[in-house]
Amino acid sequence: MTDAYETEEVLSQYLDFHFGPDEPFGVPNYPAACARLCLEAMADDDQRRRALDLGCAVGRTGMELANAFDAVDALDTSQAFIDAACSLRDQGTLDYSIVDEGDIRSARRADLGGLGLAEAARRVTFAVGDASRLAVPDDPYDLVFAGNLIDRLAKPADFLERLPQQLRPGGWLVLASPYTLRREYTAQEQWIGGYRSADGEPITVRQGLHEWLEPAFEMARDPVDQAFVIRETRRKFQHTIAEVTFWRRSASAMS
Ligand SMILES: C[S@@+](CC[C@H](N)C(=O)[O-])C[C@H]1O[C@@H](n2cnc3c(N)ncnc32)[C@H](O)[C@@H]1O
Repeated sequence: MTDAYETEEVLSQYLDFHFGPDEPFGVPNYPAACARLCLEAMADDDQRRRALDLGCAVGRTGMELANAFDAVDALDTSQAFIDAACSLRDQGTLDYSIVDEGDIRSARRADLGGLGLAEAARRVTFAVGDASRLAVPDDPYDLVFAGNLIDRLAKPADFLERLPQQLRPGGWLVLASPYTLRREYTAQEQWIGGYRSADGEPITVRQGLHEWLEPAFEMARDPVDQAFVIRETRRKFQHTIAEVTFWRRSASAMS
């Protein structure tokens, strides 16, 4: 299967999704909104040294977080996304084009200066990497954010089980996802929710998160819905509602 996240088409969609000027249907910029939600959750916690953005795509959430953190690491498996994020961080601008109709395209420019992100972006270290194979950091993170990632992983439960070792006790885990379960990414036997139990009860992904994250984490505030829109063409948009959940690493969690 071609990796969609390496294609020019999806790269330009994501550059526009993260850095484009439009707010289709009045829906605010999603990667920026996710960073805001993380920071709101952490409002009473002044430990903001290191953050980790997993499945960072072309990097907007990591750059926004770098406005509040000393350093941000941002990982994605897509070489094309990470190359674009690095180029934008280093040059301050990046030209791309979006599809209007067929081969008719419009030129666009991502401009970090105009978004107030040029300086913060320099505090983000982007790398190609697999969120399912994270090394245990010498210096644990204060925040781990994974936006629209858990439903793209082959083994989401393994991923969730390894997260405590990334965070300091009291550190924050913020997961955003529309729970779009697709068998080409996650074999059905690996789903943590989105199915009925043997006695017919619906088991949701949110329930699966509780099952796999607790007691190493506790849910720290009520989940919120966050809409996003990805523009495919001038006349076709994906309008989706992600759920954002907020977790704190328990002081007693085993690493
Ligand atoms: C649906 S996109 C979401 C991207 C971004 N967080 C956002 O909300 O715009 C999923 C991203 O996860 C990346 N990805 C998929 N599997 C991954 C893995 N195992 N480790 C790290 N990144 C992964 C993809 O390359 C893609 O950039």
